Amino acid sequence: MRVTSRELESDREDAVSPAGNERLTAVVGVVLLAPVLVEVATVLLGVHTFMSVHVFVGVALLPAVLLKLSSTGWRFVRYYMRNRAYVAQGPPRPAMRLLAPLFVAATIVLFASGVAMGFLHGHALEIARRLHGPASVIWLALLGLHVVVYLGRALRDTARDMQPVDQARVRGRTARRYAVSAAVVCGLVLGGALIPAQHRWVDIRRDHHDLREGAISPARGTSRSRTRRPSGRSSPRPAMPSPGQRSGRGAPSRRG
Ligand code: HEM
Ligand code: HEM
Repeated sequence: MRVTSRELESDREDAVSPAGNERLTAVVGVVLLAPVLVEVATVLLGVHTFMSVHVFVGVALLPAVLLKLSSTGWRFVRYYMRNRAYVAQGPPRPAMRLLAPLFVAATIVLFASGVAMGFLHGHALEIARRLHGPASVIWLALLGLHVVVYLGRALRDTARDMQPVDQARVRGRTARRYAVSAAVVCGLVLGGALIPAQHRWVDIRRDHHDLREGAISPARGTSRSRTRRPSGRSSPRPAMPSPGQRSGRGAPSRRG
Protein backbone atom coordinates (compact mmCIF):
# COMPACT_ATOMS: atom_id res chain seq x y z
CA MET A 1 0.00 0.00 0.00
CA ARG A 2 1.41 3.40 -1.03
CA VAL A 3 1.11 6.20 1.46
CA THR A 4 0.93 9.71 0.02
CA SER A 5 2.52 12.60 1.87
CA ARG A 6 -0.91 14.28 2.14
CA GLU A 7 -2.32 11.20 3.90
CA LEU A 8 0.62 11.09 6.24
CA GLU A 9 0.19 14.79 6.98
CA SER A 10 -3.47 14.29 7.87
CA ASP A 11 -2.58 11.40 10.16
CA ARG A 12 -0.04 13.61 11.92
CA GLU A 13 -2.95 15.79 12.90
CA ASP A 14 -4.22 12.83 14.89
CA ALA A 15 -3.62 13.60 18.57
CA VAL A 16 -2.18 10.10 19.05
CA SER A 17 0.15 10.04 16.07
CA PRO A 18 2.76 7.26 15.90
CA ALA A 19 5.45 9.75 16.90
CA GLY A 20 3.40 10.91 19.91
CA ASN A 21 2.62 7.32 20.83
CA GLU A 22 6.31 6.39 20.61
CA ARG A 23 7.21 9.34 22.85
CA LEU A 24 4.61 8.34 25.43
CA THR A 25 5.84 4.72 25.42
CA ALA A 26 9.42 5.90 25.90
CA VAL A 27 8.65 8.44 28.65
CA VAL A 28 6.57 5.91 30.62
CA GLY A 29 9.44 3.41 30.25
CA VAL A 30 11.88 5.92 31.77
CA VAL A 31 9.42 6.70 34.59
CA LEU A 32 9.09 2.96 35.33
CA LEU A 33 12.83 2.40 35.55
CA ALA A 34 13.57 3.66 39.11
CA PRO A 35 10.60 2.00 40.89
CA VAL A 36 11.27 -1.27 39.04
CA LEU A 37 14.86 -1.15 40.32
CA VAL A 38 13.56 -0.61 43.87
CA GLU A 39 11.23 -3.59 43.41
CA VAL A 40 14.12 -5.74 42.21
CA ALA A 41 16.20 -4.55 45.19
CA THR A 42 13.48 -5.74 47.62
CA VAL A 43 13.69 -9.17 45.99
CA LEU A 44 17.49 -9.29 46.14
CA LEU A 45 17.61 -8.08 49.77
CA GLY A 46 14.93 -10.57 50.86
CA VAL A 47 11.39 -10.07 49.69
CA HIS A 48 9.86 -11.24 52.99
CA THR A 49 12.00 -8.81 55.00
CA PHE A 50 11.03 -5.91 52.74
CA MET A 51 7.49 -7.05 51.95
CA SER A 52 5.89 -3.68 52.86
CA VAL A 53 8.14 -1.86 50.40
CA HIS A 54 7.65 -4.65 47.84
CA VAL A 55 3.86 -4.32 48.04
CA PHE A 56 3.85 -0.49 48.15
CA VAL A 57 6.11 -0.14 45.11
CA GLY A 58 4.36 -2.99 43.27
CA VAL A 59 0.97 -1.35 43.75
CA ALA A 60 2.34 2.13 42.97
CA LEU A 61 3.68 0.79 39.66
CA LEU A 62 0.27 -0.44 38.51
CA PRO A 63 -1.10 2.74 36.82
CA ALA A 64 2.19 3.40 34.98
CA VAL A 65 2.36 -0.24 33.84
CA LEU A 66 -1.24 0.03 32.62
CA LEU A 67 -0.37 3.24 30.77
CA LYS A 68 2.59 1.48 29.14
CA LEU A 69 0.42 -1.48 28.11
CA SER A 70 -2.19 0.96 26.77
CA SER A 71 0.26 2.96 24.67
CA THR A 72 1.90 -0.17 23.21
CA GLY A 73 -1.53 -1.84 22.83
CA TRP A 74 -2.75 1.25 20.96
CA ARG A 75 0.14 0.98 18.50
CA PHE A 76 -0.55 -2.77 18.09
CA VAL A 77 -4.25 -2.24 17.38
CA ARG A 78 -3.69 0.69 15.01
CA TYR A 79 -1.05 -1.24 13.09
CA TYR A 80 -3.19 -4.37 12.69
CA MET A 81 -6.24 -2.27 11.79
CA ARG A 82 -4.10 -0.97 8.93
CA ASN A 83 -4.03 2.67 10.03
CA ARG A 84 -1.89 4.37 7.37
CA ALA A 85 0.47 6.24 9.67
CA TYR A 86 1.07 3.24 11.92
CA VAL A 87 1.63 0.95 8.92
CA ALA A 88 4.11 3.47 7.52
CA GLN A 89 5.91 3.53 10.87
CA GLY A 90 6.15 -0.26 10.72
CA PRO A 91 6.21 -2.85 13.52
CA PRO A 92 8.96 -3.13 16.17
CA ARG A 93 12.11 -4.98 15.10
CA PRO A 94 11.49 -8.74 14.59
CA ALA A 95 13.02 -10.09 17.83
CA MET A 96 11.18 -7.53 19.99
CA ARG A 97 7.99 -8.12 18.01
CA LEU A 98 8.20 -11.86 18.74
CA LEU A 99 8.95 -11.37 22.43
CA ALA A 100 6.33 -8.64 22.99
CA PRO A 101 3.34 -11.02 23.56
CA LEU A 102 5.35 -13.05 26.09
CA PHE A 103 6.49 -9.85 27.83
CA VAL A 104 2.94 -8.53 28.01
CA ALA A 105 1.63 -11.90 29.29
CA ALA A 106 4.40 -12.13 31.93
CA THR A 107 3.63 -8.55 33.04
CA ILE A 108 -0.07 -9.32 33.47
CA VAL A 109 0.55 -12.62 35.33
CA LEU A 110 3.20 -11.04 37.60
CA PHE A 111 1.18 -8.02 38.66
CA ALA A 112 -2.19 -9.80 38.74
CA SER A 113 -0.83 -12.65 40.88
CA GLY A 114 0.94 -10.15 43.17
CA VAL A 115 -2.24 -8.14 43.75
CA ALA A 116 -4.42 -11.27 43.94
CA MET A 117 -2.33 -12.72 46.79
CA GLY A 118 -3.82 -10.07 49.06
CA PHE A 119 -7.38 -11.17 48.31
CA LEU A 120 -7.28 -14.92 47.73
CA HIS A 121 -7.35 -17.82 50.16
CA GLY A 122 -6.76 -21.56 50.08
CA HIS A 123 -6.13 -23.23 46.74
CA ALA A 124 -6.51 -20.03 44.69
CA LEU A 125 -3.89 -18.31 46.89
CA GLU A 126 -1.56 -21.27 46.42
CA ILE A 127 -1.91 -20.95 42.61
CA ALA A 128 -1.18 -17.20 42.73
CA ARG A 129 1.94 -17.84 44.87
CA ARG A 130 3.15 -20.51 42.48
CA LEU A 131 2.67 -18.20 39.48
CA HIS A 132 4.28 -15.10 40.97
CA GLY A 133 7.86 -16.38 41.41
CA PRO A 134 8.28 -17.98 37.94
CA ALA A 135 6.50 -15.03 36.27
CA SER A 136 8.96 -12.66 37.95
CA VAL A 137 11.94 -14.64 36.58
CA ILE A 138 10.59 -14.56 32.99
CA TRP A 139 9.56 -10.93 33.36
CA LEU A 140 12.93 -9.77 34.70
CA ALA A 141 14.79 -11.58 31.90
CA LEU A 142 12.58 -9.97 29.24
CA LEU A 143 12.71 -6.56 30.93
CA GLY A 144 16.51 -6.78 31.03
CA LEU A 145 16.60 -7.36 27.28
CA HIS A 146 13.95 -4.67 26.74
CA VAL A 147 15.99 -2.10 28.63
CA VAL A 148 19.23 -3.04 26.84
CA VAL A 149 17.50 -2.55 23.47
CA TYR A 150 15.44 0.55 24.27
CA LEU A 151 17.16 2.51 27.05
CA GLY A 152 19.15 4.82 24.74
CA ARG A 153 16.16 5.63 22.57
CA ALA A 154 13.88 6.05 25.59
CA LEU A 155 16.27 8.55 27.20
CA ARG A 156 16.70 10.49 23.95
CA ASP A 157 12.93 10.65 23.31
CA THR A 158 12.27 11.69 26.92
CA ALA A 159 14.92 14.42 26.77
CA ARG A 160 13.38 15.74 23.52
CA ASP A 161 9.92 15.75 25.10
CA MET A 162 11.25 17.74 28.07
CA GLN A 163 12.93 20.45 25.98
CA PRO A 164 11.16 23.83 26.03
CA VAL A 165 11.09 23.87 22.23
CA ASP A 166 10.55 20.50 20.63
CA GLN A 167 12.42 20.54 17.30
CA ALA A 168 10.51 17.51 16.02
CA ARG A 169 7.17 19.15 16.96
CA VAL A 170 5.53 15.97 18.09
CA ARG A 171 1.96 16.90 18.96
CA GLY A 172 0.23 16.05 22.23
CA ARG A 173 3.03 16.95 24.64
CA THR A 174 0.67 18.44 27.22
CA ALA A 175 -1.59 15.38 27.05
CA ARG A 176 1.45 13.12 27.51
CA ARG A 177 2.55 15.11 30.54
CA TYR A 178 -0.90 14.88 32.10
CA ALA A 179 -1.12 11.15 31.40
CA VAL A 180 2.31 10.38 32.90
CA SER A 181 1.78 12.67 35.93
CA ALA A 182 -1.67 11.16 36.53
CA ALA A 183 -0.19 7.64 36.44
CA VAL A 184 2.51 8.59 38.96
CA VAL A 185 0.10 10.39 41.31
CA CYS A 186 -2.55 7.63 41.08
CA GLY A 187 0.15 5.04 41.82
CA LEU A 188 1.32 6.87 44.94
CA VAL A 189 -2.27 7.41 46.13
CA LEU A 190 -3.13 3.73 45.52
CA GLY A 191 0.03 2.52 47.27
CA GLY A 192 -0.64 4.86 50.21
CA ALA A 193 -4.33 3.95 50.42
CA LEU A 194 -3.43 0.27 50.67
CA ILE A 195 -0.91 0.71 53.51
CA PRO A 196 -3.55 -0.06 56.19
CA ALA A 197 -4.42 -3.26 54.29
CA GLN A 198 -0.82 -4.35 53.65
CA HIS A 199 -1.04 -7.08 56.31
CA ARG A 200 -3.09 -9.02 53.73
CA TRP A 201 0.13 -9.51 51.74
CA VAL A 202 2.70 -9.29 54.51
CA ASP A 203 1.05 -12.03 56.58
CA ILE A 204 0.34 -14.58 53.87
CA ARG A 205 3.51 -16.55 54.48
CA ARG A 206 2.73 -17.00 58.19
CA ASP A 207 -0.96 -17.63 57.58
CA HIS A 208 -0.15 -20.23 54.97
CA HIS A 209 2.40 -21.88 57.26
CA ASP A 210 -0.18 -21.94 60.05
CA LEU A 211 -2.79 -23.36 57.72
CA ARG A 212 -0.47 -26.18 56.71
CA GLU A 213 0.31 -26.91 60.36
CA GLY A 214 -3.41 -26.93 61.05
CA ALA A 215 -3.93 -29.39 58.23
CA ILE A 216 -1.25 -31.72 59.65
CA SER A 217 -2.48 -31.39 63.22
CA PRO A 218 -6.14 -30.35 63.19
CA ALA A 219 -6.36 -30.80 66.97
CA ARG A 220 -4.26 -27.61 67.25
CA GLY A 221 -6.68 -25.54 65.16
CA THR A 222 -5.72 -23.54 62.09
CA SER A 223 -3.55 -21.02 63.93
CA ARG A 224 -0.35 -21.87 65.72
CA SER A 225 -0.18 -18.74 67.82
CA ARG A 226 -3.85 -18.18 68.61
CA THR A 227 -6.00 -20.45 70.72
CA ARG A 228 -9.67 -20.09 71.67
CA ARG A 229 -10.48 -18.96 75.19
CA PRO A 230 -13.68 -20.23 76.78
CA SER A 231 -14.96 -16.65 76.33
CA GLY A 232 -14.61 -17.11 72.59
CA ARG A 233 -11.84 -14.49 72.29
CA SER A 234 -8.50 -15.56 70.95
CA SER A 235 -5.40 -15.66 73.10
CA PRO A 236 -1.88 -15.17 71.77
CA ARG A 237 -0.50 -17.86 74.10
CA PRO A 238 -0.08 -21.44 72.88
CA ALA A 239 -2.50 -24.03 74.24
CA MET A 240 -1.29 -26.07 77.21
CA PRO A 241 -0.43 -29.53 76.02
CA SER A 242 -2.67 -32.30 77.31
CA PRO A 243 -1.16 -34.79 79.77
CA GLY A 244 -1.05 -37.37 76.99
CA GLN A 245 0.81 -34.98 74.67
CA ARG A 246 3.22 -33.97 77.40
CA SER A 247 4.17 -37.63 78.06
CA GLY A 248 4.66 -38.11 74.32
CA ARG A 249 1.80 -40.59 73.90
CA GLY A 250 -0.30 -38.30 71.72
CA ALA A 251 -3.72 -36.89 72.56
CA PRO A 252 -5.95 -39.06 74.72
CA SER A 253 -8.80 -40.74 72.87
CA ARG A 254 -12.34 -39.40 73.32
CA ARG A 255 -13.85 -42.90 73.73
CA GLY A 256 -14.83 -42.00 77.26
C1 HEM B 1 6.66 -2.70 33.07
C2 HEM B 1 7.67 -2.63 32.26
C3 HEM B 1 7.52 -2.53 30.77
C4 HEM B 1 6.60 -3.10 29.92
C5 HEM B 1 5.45 -4.02 30.29
C6 HEM B 1 6.91 -2.67 28.57
C7 HEM B 1 6.21 -3.06 27.43
C8 HEM B 1 6.52 -2.67 26.15
C9 HEM B 1 5.93 -3.19 24.97
C10 HEM B 1 4.86 -4.30 24.94
C11 HEM B 1 6.45 -2.53 23.90
C12 HEM B 1 6.07 -2.73 22.40
C13 HEM B 1 6.80 -3.87 21.82
C14 HEM B 1 8.25 -3.56 21.57
O1 HEM B 1 8.55 -2.57 20.88
O2 HEM B 1 9.08 -4.32 22.08
C15 HEM B 1 7.41 -1.58 24.41
C16 HEM B 1 8.14 -0.70 23.66
C17 HEM B 1 9.08 0.15 24.16
N1 HEM B 1 9.51 0.25 25.48
FE1 HEM B 1 8.78 -0.80 27.03
N2 HEM B 1 8.00 -1.83 28.63
C18 HEM B 1 8.41 -1.73 29.94
C19 HEM B 1 9.46 -1.01 30.43
C20 HEM B 1 10.26 -0.19 29.66
C21 HEM B 1 11.42 0.53 30.13
C22 HEM B 1 11.95 0.45 31.57
C23 HEM B 1 11.89 1.25 29.06
C24 HEM B 1 13.04 2.22 28.99
C25 HEM B 1 13.99 2.35 29.78
C26 HEM B 1 11.04 1.00 27.92
C27 HEM B 1 11.16 1.56 26.68
C28 HEM B 1 10.47 1.21 25.55
C29 HEM B 1 10.66 1.81 24.23
C30 HEM B 1 11.62 2.93 23.85
C31 HEM B 1 9.79 1.14 23.36
C32 HEM B 1 9.62 1.37 21.84
C33 HEM B 1 8.51 2.37 21.60
C34 HEM B 1 8.07 2.38 20.16
O3 HEM B 1 8.82 1.96 19.28
O4 HEM B 1 6.94 2.82 19.91
N3 HEM B 1 10.07 0.10 28.32
N4 HEM B 1 7.44 -1.68 25.80
C1 HEM C 1 7.94 -5.65 39.43
C2 HEM C 1 7.03 -6.45 39.91
C3 HEM C 1 7.32 -7.60 40.87
C4 HEM C 1 8.40 -8.44 40.95
C5 HEM C 1 9.64 -8.46 40.06
C6 HEM C 1 8.15 -9.35 42.05
C7 HEM C 1 9.00 -10.37 42.43
C8 HEM C 1 8.77 -11.23 43.49
C9 HEM C 1 9.61 -12.36 43.85
C10 HEM C 1 10.86 -12.82 43.09
C11 HEM C 1 9.06 -12.93 44.94
C12 HEM C 1 9.57 -14.18 45.68
C13 HEM C 1 8.79 -15.37 45.13
C14 HEM C 1 9.01 -16.64 45.91
O1 HEM C 1 9.60 -16.62 46.99
O2 HEM C 1 8.53 -17.68 45.39
C15 HEM C 1 7.89 -12.18 45.29
C16 HEM C 1 7.06 -12.46 46.35
C17 HEM C 1 5.94 -11.77 46.63
N1 HEM C 1 5.44 -10.66 45.96
FE1 HEM C 1 6.19 -9.85 44.29
N2 HEM C 1 6.94 -9.02 42.61
C18 HEM C 1 6.41 -7.96 41.92
C19 HEM C 1 5.21 -7.34 42.14
C20 HEM C 1 4.38 -7.61 43.20
C21 HEM C 1 3.13 -6.95 43.47
C22 HEM C 1 2.49 -5.88 42.58
C23 HEM C 1 2.65 -7.49 44.63
C24 HEM C 1 1.39 -7.16 45.38
C25 HEM C 1 0.80 -6.04 45.39
C26 HEM C 1 3.59 -8.49 45.09
C27 HEM C 1 3.44 -9.26 46.22
C28 HEM C 1 4.27 -10.29 46.58
C29 HEM C 1 4.02 -11.17 47.72
C30 HEM C 1 2.83 -11.09 48.68
C31 HEM C 1 5.06 -12.10 47.74
C32 HEM C 1 5.24 -13.26 48.75
C33 HEM C 1 4.78 -14.53 48.07
C34 HEM C 1 4.96 -15.78 48.90
O3 HEM C 1 5.31 -15.69 50.08
O4 HEM C 1 4.73 -16.86 48.34
N3 HEM C 1 4.63 -8.54 44.19
N4 HEM C 1 7.73 -11.14 44.38
